[in-house]
Amino acid sequence: MSKELEVGPTASLSPGTVLGAGRYAVGNANDELFAVTRRCRHLYADLADGTIDVDGCLTCPWHGAKYEVQTGRMVRGPQGIFAKIPGLGFAFKTLTRVLPLGRGRVTERDDTLYVE
Ligand code: FES
Repeated sequence: MSKELEVGPTASLSPGTVLGAGRYAVGNANDELFAVTRRCRHLYADLADGTIDVDGCLTCPWHGAKYEVQTGRMVRGPQGIFAKIPGLGFAFKTLTRVLPLGRGRVTERDDTLYVE
């Protein structure tokens, strides 16, 4: 049984915003609300500190891996020095096809958002 957590006022999650709520990074990607588990699959950065790119993907704050928020899959591997390691990005993308980020459900009541 999952437990519902309050995220905050609906107005606090404008497009492009990401917040942390318990184990979830909750965000607004092009007016689509989403919740994914907040630890990056690479080195466990907090994805609640991430950003939303123009394609609506969640970008990790540490090394720039990108996640598709609808599926929890990594669609771009870690950048910077990690991008020079042959096969690393491919390995993470493959891993998250099998073990994507967990996804939560975002609901709204009385101008407040909740995740479970
Ligand atoms: S910790 Fe997220 S890309 Fe490295």
